[in-house]
Amino acid sequence: MTLREKLDLLEARRAQSEEGGGAARIKAQHDKGKLSARERLDVLLDEGSFVEYDRFVTHRSTDFGLEGQKVYGDGVVTGHGRIDGRLVYVFSQDFTVFGGSLSEAFAEKICKVMDLAVRNGAPVIGLNDSGGARIQEGVVSLGGYAEIFLRNTLASGVIPQISAILGPCAGGAVYSPAITDLVYMVRGSSYMFVTGPNVVKTVTHEDVTMERLGGADTHAATSGVAHFAHDSELQSLQAIRELFRYIPQNNLGEPPRGPGTDPRDRRDESLLDVVPEHASKPYDMHEVIARVVDDGEFYEVHKDYAGNILCGFAHLGGYSVGIVANQPAVLAGVLDINASVKAARFVRFCDAFNIPLVTFEDVPGFLPGVGQEHGGIIRHGAKLLYAYCEATVPKLTVITRKAYGGAYDVMSSKHIRGDFNVAWPSAEIAVMGPKGAVEILFRKEIAESPDPAKAMDERVAEYTEKFANPYVAASRGYVDDIIDPRDTRPRLIDALDTLQGKRDRNPPKKHGNLPL
Ligand code: HXC
Repeated sequence: MTLREKLDLLEARRAQSEEGGGAARIKAQHDKGKLSARERLDVLLDEGSFVEYDRFVTHRSTDFGLEGQKVYGDGVVTGHGRIDGRLVYVFSQDFTVFGGSLSEAFAEKICKVMDLAVRNGAPVIGLNDSGGARIQEGVVSLGGYAEIFLRNTLASGVIPQISAILGPCAGGAVYSPAITDLVYMVRGSSYMFVTGPNVVKTVTHEDVTMERLGGADTHAATSGVAHFAHDSELQSLQAIRELFRYIPQNNLGEPPRGPGTDPRDRRDESLLDVVPEHASKPYDMHEVIARVVDDGEFYEVHKDYAGNILCGFAHLGGYSVGIVANQPAVLAGVLDINASVKAARFVRFCDAFNIPLVTFEDVPGFLPGVGQEHGGIIRHGAKLLYAYCEATVPKLTVITRKAYGGAYDVMSSKHIRGDFNVAWPSAEIAVMGPKGAVEILFRKEIAESPDPAKAMDERVAEYTEKFANPYVAASRGYVDDIIDPRDTRPRLIDALDTLQGKRDRNPPKKHGNLPL
């Protein structure tokens, strides 16, 4: 055979490797509103940037229904590409090939790109669409999953790991995305569950649809397994591209700078009117964030989960920052189990990847109640405390209104290595709110008074004057300054400038024992 003929053969085999499970199965995929594995990579990556590996790898088991079938590449497309010019490693499971089920060779392909991603310090993005373990390969397939789980774990905190769930993801297969940093799902076509509706019906006699059991909204709003739910694959894939405006390549890299066109010294008059005069009146903390960050752009993470705390990325003076903010508009911004867990994981992501944390604080405390106590608010609240204490990235805090009780300590206070802590004049920093404090301290006096309501009001006014303000904290240096709300943006940007050379370390250890 001449070299030209050999090249023709190569071309023919390359073309064959791109056919996946064939035109009929690709059509079935399209009919379900889903893209093929390769089309997804086209959307995700910069045009023409994808470089494929292992296209000629084939699966090893050829019996039990697989007789005579050899598919080049098996059921997964792997390689590297670029997002805004930045290197990323990718794998895209191909449902048209044996239902995207995971074989030994399939797992080896994924492990190869994960190893390369860690070695070369680049993020890895997994596009999941799979019927789970390849039944014909039995325990070898389970071993393949375990190899992936191990790599997910070792890569955690070293490179960003992103998962898009674009089809079924069942059984133990869900644990790979669960270890990754951010999970994106699509309404109506992506599912995650340990056991599907049929098993659920047999074991617990519950009738439940795939969507309700493990669909995008369920995981984005109820279980918290997914950080994002979108209406289409295109939106999910675009959102992953967008994420790259904020995150670095790896734990040794710096996050990318934003365009920095929003003036650094921009004061915002309307910040004077956001916090209502009455302390128990809600307001939307999104308003504060939007007015402070560059161009009002906030990439919100876990938007539909635990709305009483907001987490997300933004740029501030061009710097990429992670924002954590109590949300007075939902449950008065109280810290409960879900809010603590949500924010703790976000804080740890930012800390692992050198993204400074900006905390906007208006928190009445931890949520009281039997349900919360029995659910372990102590253990879960401790996660957030631990995460903030452990974080060594620049930590900036703005107290807009309430900073009460243990929540004051938790929310990036000075005492746990807050670098720049300021309060607005509207801040109330104390052990508890005025009414609660007066009821504890003066219950008897008020009950015995000829006019209990008046006595109560007087004591509340006295407490408010004495304790529910930012001046006691400022007199101790617990906040660095009390600032005009309009200056929030320039003051934060100036603080970020000063913190660019920040060096801080935790004591050497194998690892801490985070209260899981
Ligand atoms: C081998 C599989 C397969 C599997 C699907 N296929 N799942 N082949 N191993 N696990 C094949 C089908 O035979 C079919 O082949 C093609 O993929 C498409 O599957 P369909 O059933 O026709 O598709 P659909 O109706 O869309 O249903 C998709 C599905 C269903 C819901 C994913 O296929 C399914 O329930 N599969 C099994 C899921 C499962 O229980 N997996 C094991 C989970 S436990 P043809 O030739 O007809 O196109 C697990 C352990 C992980 O994964 C352990 C980690 C620790």
